[in-house]
Amino acid sequence: MGHAQFITDLLDFIEDSPTPFHAVQNMKNMLSENGFAELKESDSWSLLPGQNYYVTRNGSSIIAFRTGATDVVNSGVRMVGAHTDSPCLKVKPTPEIVQKGYLQLGVEVYGGALFSPWFDRDLSLAGRVNYATKYHQLETALIDFKDPIAVIPSLAIHLNRTVHEARTINPQKELLPIILQAKEEEPRDFRELLKMQMLSENPESTVDEVLDYDLYFYDTQPPAIVGLDEEFICSARLDNLLSCFVGLVSLIQAGNKFTSLLICNDHEEVGSMSAAGAQGTFLRSVLERLVSDPQKFSRMIHQSILVSADNAHGVHPNYVDKHDETHGPVLNKGPVIKVNANQRYATNSRTSAVFRHLCKKADVPVQSFSMRNDMACGSTIGPITATELGVQTIDVGVPQFAMHSVRETAGVKDAHYLFRVLKEFYANEFDMD
Ligand code: CO
Repeated sequence: MGHAQFITDLLDFIEDSPTPFHAVQNMKNMLSENGFAELKESDSWSLLPGQNYYVTRNGSSIIAFRTGATDVVNSGVRMVGAHTDSPCLKVKPTPEIVQKGYLQLGVEVYGGALFSPWFDRDLSLAGRVNYATKYHQLETALIDFKDPIAVIPSLAIHLNRTVHEARTINPQKELLPIILQAKEEEPRDFRELLKMQMLSENPESTVDEVLDYDLYFYDTQPPAIVGLDEEFICSARLDNLLSCFVGLVSLIQAGNKFTSLLICNDHEEVGSMSAAGAQGTFLRSVLERLVSDPQKFSRMIHQSILVSADNAHGVHPNYVDKHDETHGPVLNKGPVIKVNANQRYATNSRTSAVFRHLCKKADVPVQSFSMRNDMACGSTIGPITATELGVQTIDVGVPQFAMHSVRETAGVKDAHYLFRVLKEFYANEFDMD
């Protein structure tokens, strides 16, 4: 696949995946098109060598894998991990609020969102709806309004003259999206609005009553290639759908000598502690179905490596002092190895050496990130999965600006660089003894 096509496909994937549920649905479609068969956690599995499979949990986390021709106990599993979720505004259970005739929706902040970019955006709403059918059965459907149906207007500068000196944003009071101007005094029922939307998206739907939902606001501005020399990509959810896409394409193109796996978890942005999150049992339970004997399982884990791919902070030219002087990754200069002495990242010299070696093989430049000592360091699924499984892990990611904004910026070259390294990773043998 050429570089331009790769970027087009990446941006299309992100645009079509406004929520983790949609991201997993789109990954399932790509996997099915490429010969991967769906497994259910509730079924018993009989896995064959040299075959492709995927399984989902909660509709928002997915594991895809290719069973290798070589014995997995001796050669281990090459794993890539990423996350499907991004910080955003999530609709509350009883969301209807009417103020001055405007219907607004109560929202909860999901994850560590930057608040200010949410103002003055053309917002839409998407996610999962759980409903009762006309035949009294419980069903689930994905929903996406697609059209801009909401806005959070800024307060005019004339009404807040000190806004540039000391702006604070109260997320309870100031982040309520306006979805319509009510015609009558009675507030409109949000679940009824959802039912109407479901019927307009699918006239065949048997929806009778919407019971509950996981719905998220998102910015409708499509991703774009930006810069005089077209060096940048600007989009929502680059953290971390970019890594999900790169991992997926790498896995699809991996050979079948070794067992290769991709896991994309939900709930990373809220700490990973859930059934579908990295701290849950999903990955272990799938790996135990590959090798059930406890002794062999331990041997397999011992020979395995996890590349945890999640975007890194590129040094911002307006804020260069926010990075350690010699650890400021630059966009388009290659993937970043993340190192933290206090284990906020799981990288050690051994796994980092493996990654550098792979970069050299793929002819890809590589950078490293270490946090300033006077600032707190973020984390990702790497240390959590390493702790849960005891697997050797490396934390890496492409550099980006504006992490957790509704519009983030990354380099146009780095995703393809990461793809080339992950392809090498899936194809190579490592002795982790
Ligand atoms: Co992330």
